[in-house]
Amino acid sequence: MKCNLKLIAAAAMTLSLTACGGGFEANESPAETGNEEAPAAATAENVYRVSFNQTETHPQFIALTNLGQRMADATDGKCSLEVFPNETLGNQKDSIELVQAGTVDFAMVAGSLLENFNPDFVVFNLPYTFDDKEHQQKVFMDPELTDELFSSIEDEKISVLGAFHAGVRNVYNSEKPINTPEDLDGMKIRVIESDTNLKMMELMGGSGTPMGQGEVYTAIQSGVIDGGENNESIFANLKHFEVAKYYSYTRHLMFPDYLITNPDLLANMDPACSDFLKEDMANTQKEQGELWDKEIEKSIQMAEEAGAEFNEADVAAFREAVKPLVEESLTNDFTRDLYAKVREAAN
Ligand code: GCU
Repeated sequence: MKCNLKLIAAAAMTLSLTACGGGFEANESPAETGNEEAPAAATAENVYRVSFNQTETHPQFIALTNLGQRMADATDGKCSLEVFPNETLGNQKDSIELVQAGTVDFAMVAGSLLENFNPDFVVFNLPYTFDDKEHQQKVFMDPELTDELFSSIEDEKISVLGAFHAGVRNVYNSEKPINTPEDLDGMKIRVIESDTNLKMMELMGGSGTPMGQGEVYTAIQSGVIDGGENNESIFANLKHFEVAKYYSYTRHLMFPDYLITNPDLLANMDPACSDFLKEDMANTQKEQGELWDKEIEKSIQMAEEAGAEFNEADVAAFREAVKPLVEESLTNDFTRDLYAKVREAAN
Protein backbone atom coordinates (compact mmCIF):
# COMPACT_ATOMS: atom_id res chain seq x y z
CA MET A 1 0.00 0.00 0.00
CA LYS A 2 2.75 2.38 1.03
CA CYS A 3 4.59 1.60 -2.18
CA ASN A 4 1.50 2.27 -4.31
CA LEU A 5 0.88 5.58 -2.64
CA LYS A 6 4.44 6.60 -3.30
CA LEU A 7 4.11 5.56 -6.93
CA ILE A 8 0.95 7.58 -7.32
CA ALA A 9 2.60 10.60 -5.74
CA ALA A 10 5.61 10.34 -8.03
CA ALA A 11 3.42 9.78 -11.08
CA ALA A 12 1.24 12.75 -10.16
CA MET A 13 4.32 14.88 -9.78
CA THR A 14 5.70 13.91 -13.17
CA LEU A 15 2.31 14.41 -14.80
CA SER A 16 2.06 17.88 -13.41
CA LEU A 17 5.58 18.60 -14.59
CA THR A 18 4.65 17.38 -18.06
CA ALA A 19 1.52 19.50 -17.98
CA CYS A 20 3.71 22.55 -17.43
CA GLY A 21 4.88 22.26 -21.02
CA GLY A 22 7.54 19.57 -20.94
CA GLY A 23 10.51 21.91 -21.02
CA PHE A 24 12.38 23.25 -18.05
CA GLU A 25 14.37 26.41 -17.82
CA ALA A 26 17.84 25.83 -16.48
CA ASN A 27 17.10 28.24 -13.66
CA GLU A 28 14.20 26.04 -12.50
CA SER A 29 16.38 22.99 -12.21
CA PRO A 30 16.50 21.15 -8.89
CA ALA A 31 20.19 20.79 -9.69
CA GLU A 32 20.48 24.42 -8.79
CA THR A 33 21.10 24.05 -5.11
CA GLY A 34 23.67 26.72 -4.60
CA ASN A 35 26.34 24.05 -4.82
CA GLU A 36 28.83 25.11 -7.47
CA GLU A 37 29.71 21.54 -8.31
CA ALA A 38 26.20 20.62 -9.43
CA PRO A 39 25.75 21.30 -13.15
CA ALA A 40 22.32 22.47 -14.34
CA ALA A 41 20.25 20.79 -17.05
CA ALA A 42 20.41 22.18 -20.60
CA THR A 43 17.24 23.55 -22.17
CA ALA A 44 15.86 21.75 -25.24
CA GLU A 45 12.62 20.99 -27.08
CA ASN A 46 12.33 17.72 -25.19
CA VAL A 47 13.86 17.46 -21.75
CA TYR A 48 13.75 13.85 -20.63
CA ARG A 49 13.41 13.20 -16.90
CA VAL A 50 15.93 10.96 -15.20
CA SER A 51 15.07 9.56 -11.77
CA PHE A 52 18.10 9.48 -9.49
CA ASN A 53 18.25 8.52 -5.83
CA GLN A 54 21.42 10.31 -4.74
CA THR A 55 22.64 13.87 -4.39
CA GLU A 56 23.53 16.54 -6.97
CA THR A 57 27.25 16.21 -6.28
CA HIS A 58 27.34 12.46 -7.04
CA PRO A 59 29.52 11.58 -10.07
CA GLN A 60 26.55 9.93 -11.78
CA PHE A 61 24.46 13.09 -11.44
CA ILE A 62 27.26 15.17 -12.92
CA ALA A 63 28.01 12.74 -15.76
CA LEU A 64 24.33 12.39 -16.73
CA THR A 65 23.72 16.13 -16.62
CA ASN A 66 26.77 16.63 -18.83
CA LEU A 67 25.44 13.95 -21.17
CA GLY A 68 22.21 15.97 -21.43
CA GLN A 69 24.21 19.06 -22.28
CA ARG A 70 26.16 17.25 -25.01
CA MET A 71 22.89 15.80 -26.31
CA ALA A 72 21.37 19.28 -26.60
CA ASP A 73 24.48 20.57 -28.39
CA ALA A 74 24.73 17.63 -30.79
CA THR A 75 21.04 17.72 -31.75
CA ASP A 76 20.63 21.49 -32.12
CA GLY A 77 18.49 21.64 -29.02
CA LYS A 78 16.15 18.79 -29.92
CA CYS A 79 16.61 16.97 -26.64
CA SER A 80 18.33 16.95 -23.31
CA LEU A 81 18.17 15.28 -19.90
CA GLU A 82 17.22 16.62 -16.52
CA VAL A 83 18.32 14.55 -13.59
CA PHE A 84 16.05 14.65 -10.53
CA PRO A 85 18.16 13.77 -7.47
CA ASN A 86 17.34 12.55 -3.95
CA GLU A 87 14.49 10.18 -4.90
CA THR A 88 12.32 13.18 -5.94
CA LEU A 89 10.68 11.01 -8.60
CA GLY A 90 10.61 7.90 -6.42
CA ASN A 91 13.06 5.41 -4.96
CA GLN A 92 14.87 3.06 -7.32
CA LYS A 93 12.40 0.19 -7.08
CA ASP A 94 9.44 2.47 -7.80
CA SER A 95 11.39 4.28 -10.53
CA ILE A 96 11.76 1.04 -12.47
CA GLU A 97 7.98 0.68 -12.47
CA LEU A 98 7.57 4.30 -13.55
CA VAL A 99 9.95 3.72 -16.47
CA GLN A 100 8.02 0.58 -17.44
CA ALA A 101 4.78 2.55 -17.34
CA GLY A 102 6.33 5.36 -19.40
CA THR A 103 5.72 7.92 -16.63
CA VAL A 104 9.40 8.60 -16.03
CA ASP A 105 11.79 8.59 -19.00
CA PHE A 106 15.02 7.25 -17.53
CA ALA A 107 16.24 5.97 -14.16
CA MET A 108 19.58 5.07 -12.66
CA VAL A 109 19.09 1.88 -10.67
CA ALA A 110 21.18 -0.56 -8.70
CA GLY A 111 22.23 -3.69 -10.60
CA SER A 112 20.72 -6.04 -8.03
CA LEU A 113 17.20 -4.75 -8.68
CA LEU A 114 17.23 -6.04 -12.27
CA GLU A 115 17.56 -9.60 -10.95
CA ASN A 116 13.88 -9.27 -10.14
CA PHE A 117 13.21 -9.17 -13.92
CA ASN A 118 15.86 -11.58 -15.15
CA PRO A 119 17.77 -13.57 -12.52
CA ASP A 120 20.74 -13.87 -14.92
CA PHE A 121 21.69 -10.28 -14.04
CA VAL A 122 23.06 -11.84 -10.85
CA VAL A 123 26.41 -12.50 -12.56
CA PHE A 124 27.43 -8.85 -12.20
CA ASN A 125 26.05 -8.57 -8.65
CA LEU A 126 27.87 -11.35 -6.87
CA PRO A 127 30.39 -10.66 -4.12
CA TYR A 128 34.02 -10.30 -5.23
CA THR A 129 33.17 -10.70 -8.95
CA PHE A 130 35.22 -7.67 -9.96
CA ASP A 131 38.74 -7.06 -8.71
CA ASP A 132 38.65 -3.30 -9.14
CA LYS A 133 37.00 -0.44 -11.01
CA GLU A 134 39.24 -0.95 -14.06
CA HIS A 135 38.28 -4.61 -14.33
CA GLN A 136 34.60 -3.71 -14.07
CA GLN A 137 34.86 -0.92 -16.67
CA LYS A 138 36.65 -3.28 -19.06
CA VAL A 139 33.75 -5.74 -18.81
CA PHE A 140 31.10 -3.08 -19.30
CA MET A 141 32.82 -1.66 -22.37
CA ASP A 142 32.72 -5.07 -24.06
CA PRO A 143 29.42 -5.56 -25.93
CA GLU A 144 30.10 -9.28 -26.20
CA LEU A 145 29.79 -9.54 -22.46
CA THR A 146 26.85 -7.21 -22.01
CA ASP A 147 24.55 -7.00 -25.07
CA GLU A 148 22.62 -10.21 -24.66
CA LEU A 149 21.93 -9.63 -20.97
CA PHE A 150 21.15 -5.95 -21.31
CA SER A 151 18.55 -6.49 -24.04
CA SER A 152 16.96 -9.47 -22.28
CA ILE A 153 14.23 -7.55 -20.46
CA GLU A 154 12.90 -5.40 -23.27
CA ASP A 155 9.69 -7.44 -23.22
CA GLU A 156 9.23 -6.10 -19.73
CA LYS A 157 9.70 -2.57 -21.09
CA ILE A 158 13.19 -2.08 -19.71
CA SER A 159 16.18 -1.26 -21.92
CA VAL A 160 19.58 -1.07 -20.28
CA LEU A 161 21.58 1.72 -21.92
CA GLY A 162 24.76 1.51 -19.90
CA ALA A 163 26.39 0.20 -16.74
CA PHE A 164 28.11 2.60 -14.36
CA HIS A 165 30.68 2.02 -11.65
CA ALA A 166 28.99 2.41 -8.27
CA GLY A 167 31.88 1.99 -5.89
CA VAL A 168 32.89 -0.82 -3.58
CA ARG A 169 30.46 -1.72 -0.82
CA ASN A 170 31.54 -2.17 2.79
CA VAL A 171 29.57 -2.60 6.01
CA TYR A 172 28.94 0.12 8.57
CA ASN A 173 27.07 0.06 11.85
CA SER A 174 26.30 1.93 15.03
CA GLU A 175 28.01 -0.44 17.46
CA LYS A 176 31.59 -1.45 16.71
CA PRO A 177 34.24 -2.00 14.05
CA ILE A 178 33.66 -5.24 12.10
CA ASN A 179 36.64 -7.51 11.46
CA THR A 180 35.20 -10.96 10.79
CA PRO A 181 31.81 -12.49 9.91
CA GLU A 182 31.38 -13.40 13.60
CA ASP A 183 31.33 -9.69 14.46
CA LEU A 184 28.14 -9.26 12.42
CA ASP A 185 26.32 -11.89 14.46
CA GLY A 186 22.96 -10.53 15.63
CA MET A 187 23.23 -7.35 13.60
CA LYS A 188 20.50 -6.19 11.25
CA ILE A 189 22.05 -4.66 8.16
CA ARG A 190 20.08 -2.94 5.41
CA VAL A 191 20.49 -4.51 1.98
CA ILE A 192 19.12 -3.75 -1.50
CA GLU A 193 15.83 -5.47 -2.32
CA SER A 194 16.98 -8.75 -3.93
CA ASP A 195 17.20 -12.33 -2.67
CA THR A 196 20.89 -12.44 -3.54
CA ASN A 197 21.61 -9.57 -1.17
CA LEU A 198 19.59 -11.16 1.64
CA LYS A 199 21.46 -14.45 1.28
CA MET A 200 24.76 -12.59 1.03
CA MET A 201 24.25 -10.79 4.33
CA GLU A 202 23.30 -14.02 6.06
CA LEU A 203 26.51 -15.67 4.83
CA MET A 204 28.47 -12.63 5.93
CA GLY A 205 27.23 -13.30 9.46
CA GLY A 206 24.51 -10.68 9.83
CA SER A 207 20.85 -10.48 9.03
CA GLY A 208 19.69 -8.54 5.95
CA THR A 209 16.80 -6.07 6.02
CA PRO A 210 15.79 -4.95 2.52
CA MET A 211 14.70 -1.33 2.01
CA GLY A 212 15.15 1.68 -0.29
CA GLN A 213 18.12 3.98 0.23
CA GLY A 214 16.07 6.94 1.44
CA GLU A 215 14.80 5.07 4.52
CA VAL A 216 18.16 3.91 5.83
CA TYR A 217 19.15 6.91 7.95
CA THR A 218 15.94 6.92 9.99
CA ALA A 219 15.90 3.14 10.27
CA ILE A 220 19.35 3.17 11.88
CA GLN A 221 18.52 6.16 14.02
CA SER A 222 15.40 4.53 15.39
CA GLY A 223 17.18 1.21 15.98
CA VAL A 224 15.11 -0.76 13.43
CA ILE A 225 18.45 -1.77 11.89
CA ASP A 226 22.04 -1.56 13.13
CA GLY A 227 23.66 -0.42 9.92
CA GLY A 228 24.01 -0.71 6.19
CA GLU A 229 26.45 -1.74 3.49
CA ASN A 230 27.44 0.76 0.86
CA ASN A 231 30.21 2.83 -0.68
CA GLU A 232 31.81 5.79 1.12
CA SER A 233 29.89 8.32 -0.98
CA ILE A 234 26.49 7.25 0.35
CA PHE A 235 27.92 6.86 3.86
CA ALA A 236 29.14 10.46 3.84
CA ASN A 237 26.69 12.35 1.62
CA LEU A 238 23.56 10.86 3.13
CA LYS A 239 25.15 11.44 6.56
CA HIS A 240 24.81 7.83 7.63
CA PHE A 241 27.96 8.29 9.72
CA GLU A 242 25.90 10.41 12.11
CA VAL A 243 23.97 7.31 13.15
CA ALA A 244 26.45 4.52 12.33
CA LYS A 245 30.01 5.70 12.66
CA TYR A 246 31.93 2.40 12.25
CA TYR A 247 32.79 1.80 8.59
CA SER A 248 34.61 -1.48 7.94
CA TYR A 249 36.34 -2.43 4.70
CA THR A 250 34.85 -5.83 3.86
CA ARG A 251 35.02 -4.86 0.15
CA HIS A 252 32.37 -7.49 -0.52
CA LEU A 253 30.46 -6.06 -3.43
CA MET A 254 30.93 -3.99 -6.56
CA PHE A 255 27.74 -4.18 -8.57
CA PRO A 256 27.02 -1.57 -11.27
CA ASP A 257 24.22 0.93 -11.54
CA TYR A 258 22.26 0.81 -14.78
CA LEU A 259 20.81 3.67 -16.79
CA ILE A 260 17.49 2.28 -17.93
CA THR A 261 14.69 3.53 -20.19
CA ASN A 262 11.57 2.21 -21.84
CA PRO A 263 12.23 0.64 -25.30
CA ASP A 264 9.08 2.36 -26.62
CA LEU A 265 10.47 5.75 -25.64
CA LEU A 266 13.72 4.99 -27.47
CA ALA A 267 11.85 3.83 -30.56
CA ASN A 268 9.72 6.97 -30.66
CA MET A 269 12.52 9.40 -29.96
CA ASP A 270 13.94 11.64 -32.67
CA PRO A 271 16.66 9.37 -34.16
CA ALA A 272 19.22 12.14 -33.69
CA CYS A 273 18.57 11.90 -29.94
CA SER A 274 18.48 8.12 -29.58
CA ASP A 275 21.57 7.72 -31.78
CA PHE A 276 23.47 10.29 -29.77
CA LEU A 277 22.52 8.60 -26.51
CA LYS A 278 23.87 5.28 -27.68
CA GLU A 279 27.02 6.79 -29.19
CA ASP A 280 27.88 8.86 -26.17
CA MET A 281 27.23 6.24 -23.51
CA ALA A 282 30.85 5.08 -23.33
CA ASN A 283 32.01 8.70 -22.80
CA THR A 284 29.49 9.15 -20.02
CA GLN A 285 30.53 5.92 -18.31
CA LYS A 286 34.17 6.96 -18.57
CA GLU A 287 33.57 10.45 -17.27
CA GLN A 288 31.72 9.23 -14.20
CA GLY A 289 34.43 6.61 -13.57
CA GLU A 290 37.05 9.35 -13.65
CA LEU A 291 35.12 11.47 -11.16
CA TRP A 292 34.72 8.52 -8.83
CA ASP A 293 38.08 8.39 -7.03
CA LYS A 294 37.93 12.05 -6.07
CA GLU A 295 34.40 11.54 -4.77
CA ILE A 296 35.54 8.72 -2.50
CA GLU A 297 38.51 10.71 -1.23
CA LYS A 298 36.23 13.65 -0.39
CA SER A 299 33.66 11.40 1.24
CA ILE A 300 36.18 9.71 3.52
CA GLN A 301 37.55 13.07 4.57
CA MET A 302 34.07 14.47 5.26
CA ALA A 303 33.06 11.44 7.35
CA GLU A 304 36.36 11.31 9.26
CA GLU A 305 36.15 14.97 10.14
CA ALA A 306 32.70 14.30 11.55
CA GLY A 307 34.00 11.47 13.74
CA ALA A 308 33.49 8.35 11.61
CA GLU A 309 35.95 5.50 12.15
CA PHE A 310 37.27 3.45 9.24
CA ASN A 311 38.94 0.06 9.69
CA GLU A 312 40.29 -2.76 7.52
CA ALA A 313 38.35 -6.01 7.93
CA ASP A 314 39.44 -9.60 7.29
CA VAL A 315 38.53 -9.66 3.59
CA ALA A 316 39.74 -13.26 3.15
CA ALA A 317 37.28 -14.43 5.82
CA PHE A 318 34.37 -12.63 4.16
CA ARG A 319 35.39 -13.89 0.72
CA GLU A 320 35.36 -17.45 2.05
CA ALA A 321 32.02 -16.95 3.81
CA VAL A 322 30.18 -15.84 0.65
CA LYS A 323 31.64 -18.50 -1.68
CA PRO A 324 28.52 -20.71 -1.54
CA LEU A 325 26.45 -17.82 -2.87
CA VAL A 326 28.55 -17.59 -6.02
CA GLU A 327 28.20 -21.31 -6.65
CA GLU A 328 24.47 -21.50 -5.97
CA SER A 329 23.63 -18.37 -8.02
CA LEU A 330 25.17 -19.52 -11.29
CA THR A 331 22.35 -21.88 -12.18
CA ASN A 332 22.58 -22.19 -15.97
CA ASP A 333 25.14 -22.34 -18.79
CA PHE A 334 24.64 -18.68 -19.71
CA THR A 335 25.49 -17.38 -16.24
CA ARG A 336 28.35 -19.85 -15.68
CA ASP A 337 29.89 -18.95 -19.03
CA LEU A 338 29.46 -15.19 -18.52
CA TYR A 339 30.92 -15.37 -15.01
CA ALA A 340 33.94 -17.28 -16.31
CA LYS A 341 34.51 -14.63 -19.03
CA VAL A 342 34.22 -11.83 -16.48
CA ARG A 343 36.82 -13.49 -14.30
CA GLU A 344 39.09 -14.04 -17.33
CA ALA A 345 38.89 -10.32 -18.06
CA ALA A 346 40.49 -9.65 -14.67
CA ASN A 347 43.89 -10.72 -15.95
C1 GCU B 1 24.76 2.57 -4.28
C2 GCU B 1 24.26 2.57 -5.67
C3 GCU B 1 22.85 3.02 -5.76
C4 GCU B 1 21.99 2.34 -4.74
C5 GCU B 1 22.54 2.43 -3.41
C6 GCU B 1 21.70 1.62 -2.43
O1 GCU B 1 25.08 3.80 -3.86
O2 GCU B 1 25.06 3.40 -6.47
O3 GCU B 1 22.35 2.74 -7.00
O4 GCU B 1 20.77 2.91 -4.70
O5 GCU B 1 23.83 1.98 -3.39
O6 GCU B 1 22.26 0.91 -1.64
O7 GCU B 1 20.48 1.70 -2.47
